[in-house]
Amino acid sequence: DPTVLFTIAGMVPFKPFFVGDEVPPWPRATSVQKCFRTVDIDIIGTTLRHCTFFEMLGNFSFGDYFKTGAIPFAWELVTEVLGIDGDRLWVTVHESDDEAEEIWRDQIGVPAGRIQRLGEDNFWKMGDTGPCGPSSEIFIDKGPAYGADGGPASGGPERFIEIWNLVFMQFNRSADGTTEPLPKPSIDTGAGLERILPVLQGVDSLYDTDLYVPLLDVAQSITGRTYGADERDDVGLRIMADHSRAMAMLVSDGVLPSNEGRGYVLRRIIRRAVRRARQLGVEGPCTERLVDTVVGVLGAAHPALAEQHRLIVDVVGREEEGFLRTLATGTAILEEQLADGTATVPGDVAFRLHDTYGFPVELTVEIAEEAGLPSGVLNVVHGLGPEAGLALVDHPGVDLISFTGSAGTGVPLGVATGLSRPLGHFFDTYITIFWSTPSIALLPLLVVWFGLTLETKLALVFLSAFWPLVINTQVGIQNVDKSYQEVATAF
Ligand code: ALA
Repeated sequence: DPTVLFTIAGMVPFKPFFVGDEVPPWPRATSVQKCFRTVDIDIIGTTLRHCTFFEMLGNFSFGDYFKTGAIPFAWELVTEVLGIDGDRLWVTVHESDDEAEEIWRDQIGVPAGRIQRLGEDNFWKMGDTGPCGPSSEIFIDKGPAYGADGGPASGGPERFIEIWNLVFMQFNRSADGTTEPLPKPSIDTGAGLERILPVLQGVDSLYDTDLYVPLLDVAQSITGRTYGADERDDVGLRIMADHSRAMAMLVSDGVLPSNEGRGYVLRRIIRRAVRRARQLGVEGPCTERLVDTVVGVLGAAHPALAEQHRLIVDVVGREEEGFLRTLATGTAILEEQLADGTATVPGDVAFRLHDTYGFPVELTVEIAEEAGLPSGVLNVVHGLGPEAGLALVDHPGVDLISFTGSAGTGVPLGVATGLSRPLGHFFDTYITIFWSTPSIALLPLLVVWFGLTLETKLALVFLSAFWPLVINTQVGIQNVDKSYQEVATAF
């Protein structure tokens, strides 16, 4: 499916059946689907329930049964087949979905107090385009030890865990933003094996299941750190475990590290794991042992993984080697710079490291901080072009950036004028509001106008002479969100 880089849900291969492009050879299906999602990548390791690679279990109806069929099937699966106590389960439905709520309450017998209605959280879509529809989710309550009461809608996120999702597929969203009804209402249900397994194995989190324990064991042995001793270390160990599964699976499915598309995502995954290992004190290569362990855990269920064991180790190992070289070169350049007793890392050095050597900006910040420089050490005052500025801005630790030639180049005014990060963001937001709704933006100005001295009023009038600059910059701001995003995702 060219609209997605990866298979992100069990329904992806069935999309042509949902939208009516192909006639399904069967009216119903069930599947175990290898999936890979990056939407949660920034929180991987910080929660006990998210992962990038996972195995989605699902049931599907292509215009066959609908809500009255799917809800009893899901309940039967969860309570009778998986044997989960129904009294521990909560249900959410879309805020508009009276029918689903009635079925849960009247047909299944879920107490009304354990059924909650939600808005966007109960509308599932494959992406910006593709099949979508209201959903209904089953949650398990892990108990008061795991967080606040209040059900899935307002209780603790590690206490109420989603273990099954029923999507009532009814619409198809097109690239032009229009939403059409599907030829026939359909059903897409499912959940990651990694979500259900902790419940079935009676353990706290996916990291305590037999899918992950061997990986955490080897991550501990590689780093010499103990899982459970320190939260920051735990995040790193979990990332190593999660990413090693993902890198092995991606390579076994034919993805190779590169600078674009799927290959770039794989590159990021490998580099993130290597970086984490390094943060935990590992100097040399470590991916081989991680990949070996992934193959040991998943190889029997996924023969392709076992067959390509050597290839995966080689591909991942080569990427790791290249990245370690990058790290060594960048560190040497930076250390030389820091040896001068400088109080800041000049922006052009940080940019050269990033642009020429592929050295991550956050690592520059980290090394500078380790060397005793105050945080927010990158202080670029003159001479950087917008490309360099945008590449550096919005990294934690990069506090103040200004550079020349900013108007009309897509650089936020706050950045261009060298304001500190919070003030710069405030200023940029203000100008954006001004541009879209001047009356609202002018209101506070009018309010303060009457309290201003004559000099300040004159200064404001004088400043308005610079209006063309603001307008120019505003034209650039249309692209700024995108640039921020690209910069953020590039790392
Ligand atoms: N496609 C649905 C999901 O991914 C079931 O949650």
